[in-house]
Amino acid sequence: MSRIHEALKRAEQERATSQGGHLEPLHTTEGPVMDPIQASTVVEHPPVAPSTGIPPFSNPFTFDTLLARCAQTNWSPDAKSMLFFNSDERKYGVEEFRTLRSRLYQLREKMSLKKLLITSALPKEGKTFVAANLAQVLVRQHGRRALLIDADLRGARLHQALGTNFTPGLSEYLLGESDEFSIMQRGPMENLFFVPSGRTVSSPAELVANGRLKFLLNRVEPLFDWIIIDSPPAVPVSDASLLANFCDGVLIVVRSNTTPFDIARKARQEFEDKHLVGVVLNGIEPDSSPYSRYYYGSYGNKETQETIQG
Ligand SMILES: Nc1ncnc2c1ncn2[C@@H]1O[C@H](COP(=O)(O)OP(=O)(O)O)[C@@H](O)[C@H]1O
Ligand SMILES: [Mg+2]
Repeated sequence: MSRIHEALKRAEQERATSQGGHLEPLHTTEGPVMDPIQASTVVEHPPVAPSTGIPPFSNPFTFDTLLARCAQTNWSPDAKSMLFFNSDERKYGVEEFRTLRSRLYQLREKMSLKKLLITSALPKEGKTFVAANLAQVLVRQHGRRALLIDADLRGARLHQALGTNFTPGLSEYLLGESDEFSIMQRGPMENLFFVPSGRTVSSPAELVANGRLKFLLNRVEPLFDWIIIDSPPAVPVSDASLLANFCDGVLIVVRSNTTPFDIARKARQEFEDKHLVGVVLNGIEPDSSPYSRYYYGSYGNKETQETIQG
C-alpha cells in the first residue's frame, strides 16, 4: 500500500471515529444549513493526519475517478418512450430530438449553455420524456458526455423510464448522506451518467435550495458537456424556479392540445428572461404536421415569443 493511500485510510478511520462512524446529515428544514463547501469537504476531502506531512488531498474530480467510483448498473429502459437505446432510428421523435440538439448547439454559440433545466407548467406534459431523450441524443455524438439528473423530488420517474434504481440519489446527497460519486450511475449507453432522485423527502423545495445542489453542479460540471435536469411542474410548486438559479438555461415543455394557454404563460412567468432558452411543443399527432411531430422554437423566435408571452 502506498504512503498516500495509507495516510488517507488512516484519516478516514479517524474521521469515522470522531463522527461516531457515520457522516452527519445536513439540517434542511430546521436549524442551520451546513455550509456546502464545508459539508462536501467532510465528504470528499478527508483531512490528512498532520504527523504524516503529506499535503492535502488534491481534487479527485477526474473522469477516470468518476468511471472507477460511480456504479455500473443494469438498466432496462422503457422501449416505448426511450428512443435511443436501440438502433431503430425510424422511431417517431428521433429526428426531432436531433433537431433539438442542433438548436441547442446553435444557442451555445451565443451563450454559455451546459446546465439545462427541463420543466413545464403541469404534470404529465413530457418533462421526463424530453429530459431523458435529450440526454440520450446528446451522447450519441462521439465523445460527448451528459449527466442526467432527476431533480423532481416530488414525482421522480426518470429511474422508471431508464429502468434502474432510484437510490442512492439526489436527496441523499442534498441531505449530506452520500458523496458525488456514489449517487451517479452509468448504464448501457456510453457517456450517459445518471443521478436518480433518491428517496422521498418531506420538504423537497427546502432541500433543493439548501446550497448543496449548486455545489454538486459546480463540482461535476467540468466532467460533462451537458447536464440535463428534470424537474417538477413549475406552476403548482416552486422547485423548478429555484433550480433555474443553478442552471444556464430553461427549456419549457408544452403539451400539444393539453396545456392550457394561460397556464403555459404562467409557467413562463416563473422564470427570468435570461434563463429561458426555448419551448418544446410535445406530443403533436404525427398526422397534424407533415414535417415534424415536435416543434422547437427559441425564445429568440418572434412567433414563439408572442405565443407564450401573450
Ligand atoms: N411525445 C411523447 N411520445 C410518447 N410518449 C410520451 C410523449 N411525451 C410524454 N410521453 C409519455 O407520457 C407520460 C407522461 O410524460 P412524462 O414525461 O412522465 O411527463 P412529466 O415528466 O411532465 O410529468 C409518460 O408515460 C411518457 O413516457
Ligand atoms: Mg416527470
